[in-house]
Amino acid sequence: MDSILVRGGSELHGSIPISGAKNACLTLMPAALLTEEPLTLTNAPRLSDIRTMRALLESLGCEVASLQDGRVLVVGTEKITSCRADYEIVRKMRASILVLGPLLAREGEAVVSLPGGCAIGARPVDMHLHGLEALGAALELRDGYIHASARNGLKGAEVEFPVVSVGATENILMAATLAAGTTVLRNAAMEPEIVDLATCLRRMGARIEGDGTGIIVVEGVARLGGATHAVVADRIELGTYMLAPAIAGGEVELVGGRIDLVRAFCEKLAATGVEISETANGLLVSRGNGALKPVDVTTAPHPGFPTDLQAQMMALLTLASGVSRLEERIFENRFMHAPELARMGADIEVHGGVATVTGVDRLRGAPVMATDLRASVSLILAGLAAEGETRVARVYHLDRGYEHLEHKLSVCGANITRIDGGRQ
Ligand code: EPZ
Repeated sequence: MDSILVRGGSELHGSIPISGAKNACLTLMPAALLTEEPLTLTNAPRLSDIRTMRALLESLGCEVASLQDGRVLVVGTEKITSCRADYEIVRKMRASILVLGPLLAREGEAVVSLPGGCAIGARPVDMHLHGLEALGAALELRDGYIHASARNGLKGAEVEFPVVSVGATENILMAATLAAGTTVLRNAAMEPEIVDLATCLRRMGARIEGDGTGIIVVEGVARLGGATHAVVADRIELGTYMLAPAIAGGEVELVGGRIDLVRAFCEKLAATGVEISETANGLLVSRGNGALKPVDVTTAPHPGFPTDLQAQMMALLTLASGVSRLEERIFENRFMHAPELARMGADIEVHGGVATVTGVDRLRGAPVMATDLRASVSLILAGLAAEGETRVARVYHLDRGYEHLEHKLSVCGANITRIDGGRQ
């Protein structure tokens, strides 16, 4: 398994291009199942998760062409040859569950493995299932698989989510586009990736209103057509790289970054004293001269502070001049980066869903272990500021969500290299 070696202490100067959003692309690709015509996605990120979704769709009969070095994906589903998503693929990537709604809407049947838990939490899919049942699907859980059918097609319904769920909103939204009649999603997720999906579905002929608010109304149509859609910029990659000059010092332009995608995050980052400004090409972030101020952060569904940026923000706050309090309200086990940061000299106390971070003067490089995608990158960020060498193992977690991470950082002056796992 590859590792990444970071030698801290270099200020960062230059620009980093922001790629298309992983979490938008992972729902836009299964949307292609809803039509026999090709769906062309531009600005697609080149990530292992995208390759996994491609393999899953091809196992269902899709033809996925990857053009322009993977930046353009053309997903054609003239004919679905299988409605089964196997555990072997689903266990690697939970977003595989997002083929369930489209398969039911298109074919009237689906057999999808239950995703099982993951490092950050149990992550059940009960709201996906209840929503599809509300649309008239018959579901049975057997041998670790969801056996779903809707022989007479799906019918529009009122679906209220007890908890805001990005994936459940996406699954039900996609299914509802071909359901007969009107579907109303209440307490729907408002993430930019939902708006991106709805925008693409409208281009395919779907009738959707209210995306980006808590109430989405869908008028079902008989069929959808192909379209071309540019994947929205990745707000989590954007926030992650905004923290690089913040923690290491210097000034970096995030090309393609949009402030409207990261308002709650920017508010907190600016409160630490980091300077953020908009440019013609994106966002400019500079550390400024003063000490970092501590801030309190509570994660929440959009437009609140994103849970996917909590670990990275914690890395910054380990060096603030005071005590910061981070509360994780979305997932039950998303502080696994804390003990690894502590190995680097951070002072963090975790009690349940709250981490109290007391700033220290410096971090020291150490061998650390990546546990999940966002925890991994928080260790890389800490390594940029730490004295000495930090070696992050199991970087396959990183490759799921960050395209060419070491390249994007090293061109700005970071001393960061990938060590081939085969060569110790
Ligand atoms: C999406 O996951 C993202 N993944 C996650 O990003 C992100 O952290 C999460 O949304 C929250 O923003 C993709 O988009 C591929 P949820 P999702 O359903 O849809 C509970 C990353 O690092 N829940 O919004 O799975 C769930 O356990 C990943 O890129 C149920 O109880 O998240 C969680 O506590 C990590 N029942 C909360 O809701 C359900 O049926 C929010 O989960 C569904 C969810």
